[in-house]
Amino acid sequence: MEDQTRAHHRLDRLPARRRFDEVECTVSHLLRLPHPALQGRRYGEALLQGIASRGLGPGRAGVVEIGGGAGHIAEAAWRGEAGAFTQARWTSLDLSPALLAAQRRRVSEPSQPRGPHQRWAGLRADALDLPFRSRSLDGLVLANEVIADLPVAARRNTGAIRLVAELARVLAPGGAAVLTEFGGDFEPGPVQLLAAGGDGEHLEWSIDFRALRAAAGAAGLGVEELPLHALLGADLSVRCASYTDLWRLRRFASCDVFAAPEAQVRKRFPLLSRLLALELPELGSRRWPDATAPAGFAQLFRALILRR
Ligand SMILES: C[S@@+](CC[C@H](N)C(=O)[O-])C[C@H]1O[C@@H](n2cnc3c(N)ncnc32)[C@H](O)[C@@H]1O
Repeated sequence: MEDQTRAHHRLDRLPARRRFDEVECTVSHLLRLPHPALQGRRYGEALLQGIASRGLGPGRAGVVEIGGGAGHIAEAAWRGEAGAFTQARWTSLDLSPALLAAQRRRVSEPSQPRGPHQRWAGLRADALDLPFRSRSLDGLVLANEVIADLPVAARRNTGAIRLVAELARVLAPGGAAVLTEFGGDFEPGPVQLLAAGGDGEHLEWSIDFRALRAAAGAAGLGVEELPLHALLGADLSVRCASYTDLWRLRRFASCDVFAAPEAQVRKRFPLLSRLLALELPELGSRRWPDATAPAGFAQLFRALILRR
């Protein structure tokens, strides 16, 4: 029988905007536009620059992005400054037909800077059964906030462990993979995700990074792990809208689900920001992005770099 989470993504028909604004708002979605905490860069630019600064590059195979969501990272690499990855060949692999179509639309936009992406390909496939020959990828495989969406058995994300084995199979010498997600060196905890009306409902578990490091080591990969904010070079002292602030604000006003800087929010919504007692916490606060979660982006989000 098909795993429930896999079926959820394979049959996904939610529009990309609704999924990321309302169901699973990722950090990369909140920081998808140029942001002062990233020195004016978009999340995708900061992430790829951080990866490039560790000596990784696109090789001949380019970037394979697993689970690209709404396509903001692929777009940032084509239209922005992404170090060695700027305008690199890009393959987006996703199980969701709705999101793959959204990624295609975003990178194909003719009126945006640099025009439509000239080196992009979309592949509808499963991360756990990568459609690549063994040792064929000498560039980067990226999965940003994807692995918590993989299949879970008895509270453990066994899909993420299987993905590490798949990566060990497809990476060629010189190739590397970067996996980002929430979790740490502790037992997994549950996160229930759903939008109004139950749309997009599914359960995720935090990642036990000890298990991923052990699997990668056993598969002969080099392993480095660091906080995601360090890889991004993020300034944790910048105050901005959290998802919780935006959720409250959007009940009374129309605004984008974007971590707008504090001054911008207060200027645009002088009365509401006081009436609703918006917190607009520091990016490094335990209450950003979600004031109801046990901890925040700075404490819980990790990046795992695997090298062949
Ligand atoms: C939480 S979203 C992350 C999107 C984006 N990377 C971001 O940071 O906003 C998870 C993504 O992984 C995809 N996905 C989930 N399970 C998958 C699987 N088994 N194989 C390939 N893609 C999968 C989803 O369709 C979605 O694009």
